Amino acid sequence: LTSVRYNVERGNYSKVTEADIAEFAKIVPNRLVTDADEIAGYNTDWLRIVKGASQVLLKPKTTKEVSAILKHCNNRHLAVVPQGGNTGLVGGSVPVFDEIIISTQLMNNIISLDDLSGTLVCQSGCVLESLDNYVSEKGFIFPLDLGAKGSCHIGGNVSTNAGGLRLLRYGSLHGSVLGVEAVLADGRVIDCLSTLRKDNTGYDMKQMFIGSEGTLGMVTAVSVLCPTRPKACNVAFLGCTNFADVLSTFKSAKGMLGEILSAFEFLDHQCIEVVEQHLDGVKSPLETDYPFYVLIETSGSNAEHDEEKLNQFLESVMSKGTVQDGTVATDMTKIKAIWGLRERIAEALLHDGYCYKYDISLPINKIYDLVEVMRNRLEKTAVRSVGYGHLGDGNLHYNTTSREFNKDLYGQIEPFIFEWTAQHKGSISAEHGMGFMKKNYMRYSKSEGAFDLMTQMKQLMDPNGILNPYKTLPKQY
Ligand code: FAD
Ligand code: MLT
Ligand code: ZN
Repeated sequence: LTSVRYNVERGNYSKVTEADIAEFAKIVPNRLVTDADEIAGYNTDWLRIVKGASQVLLKPKTTKEVSAILKHCNNRHLAVVPQGGNTGLVGGSVPVFDEIIISTQLMNNIISLDDLSGTLVCQSGCVLESLDNYVSEKGFIFPLDLGAKGSCHIGGNVSTNAGGLRLLRYGSLHGSVLGVEAVLADGRVIDCLSTLRKDNTGYDMKQMFIGSEGTLGMVTAVSVLCPTRPKACNVAFLGCTNFADVLSTFKSAKGMLGEILSAFEFLDHQCIEVVEQHLDGVKSPLETDYPFYVLIETSGSNAEHDEEKLNQFLESVMSKGTVQDGTVATDMTKIKAIWGLRERIAEALLHDGYCYKYDISLPINKIYDLVEVMRNRLEKTAVRSVGYGHLGDGNLHYNTTSREFNKDLYGQIEPFIFEWTAQHKGSISAEHGMGFMKKNYMRYSKSEGAFDLMTQMKQLMDPNGILNPYKTLPKQY
């Protein structure tokens, strides 16, 4: 059991009664699930690390229904967990004990798209990929893209402040989300669903819901500024002999590709190994193996111009010897295949058995040192250690695996990895959040003052602590 393995005690919450079920049945008729088999998938996270024992799953369709559910839960002191696509990677989206699951699965209406500004307004349960498809028909691109796009919900993305593959180009959701509608623990609806680019009337309350992992309110709708969709897209996949060359290639890419550079990802040889070992038909597009690989994407308005720039860049890095070999994709099939190789590393790692996942921000020149330190440290116990990530954003994904959960190995990783990160002025969570798995380590990346203010915010917005307990903040309310 998760609670036993991680030594957590159930908070002093009420247990769901027949009267509660009758009340929920009035609020969400026919959208209340109590069948254990049906709930099983909602009780377990994507990494299969956190497993709860909820017996109630609610599927509201409207903000009003969310408000009525939370009002009742708050009055009755019943704990809840908001859930989107359940693709979160820190155990934040599933119950730890018997928290009621409120899913946004049926809150999937698009409300409006302004075809002049590109501002999209939608409910929080819309699937990311379907939003990108929708805006693309009007010539826009969704400013967020990530490997889980086929199942994650925009409400989950906003609540985790997901970074993803396009952050280098379009910035974080703290910038592109223009408005949020959220319901507080007591059922009050906070309407900050602005569609304005600029609005300095007091504190920017929507920011409180971006990245707070469902601990301050349940996001019910969002408005997002979508940029014009670039007409041309090219992807290059390159092989490098050492990490210094990867860094030098990044510097050249920024200098020579400038405004058309839309992604700069890296992966080490061990990533290719795990993907090729476990995923059918996924393989490196290069004939020779290299210790490191770089994936560069360019997006612009003129295909010829972009290709010329990319070719000049490739000639330069290859003649300098920082890149040994490479392939360029301009057609969608090959572009998708190369992106698939990068996006499916997380999935491939799960096939080893158990994955210890870390998502670290570091000064870019120190980023791979951590992988080497950890690999040496865990050499004897782990199946493998891999390093990949959004190099352009200074974001490393360090992952290690074992056949099954191994307490000794876990003890060798934590808290060492967080201490090392703090010593090197990094952040222990670049984009996945704290959730259940990382919440006790907040102090490695936040000052005492900031931490105290967060605690006060939580007490103010959710005084009974019913919203996603055991998550984000170390102390239980
Ligand atoms: P869930 O997993 O359901 O929930 C995540 C958290 O948000 C939980 O704490 C939950 O309680 C809360 N929450 C969900 N919906 C709401 C709501 N409406 N209101 C309030 N709280 C809510 N992340 C990145 O940042 N970058 C990546 O590149 C990236 N790639 C990924 C690739 C894969 C293959 C996978 C599986 C995950 C990846 N992630 C990545 C993790 C990322 O956090 C999620 O994919 C996504 O943002 C979560 O959305 P979701 O709808 O699945 O949320
Ligand atoms: C990614 O960039 O692939 C995601 O954040 C998932 C992961 O870290 O494995
Ligand atoms: Zn990532």
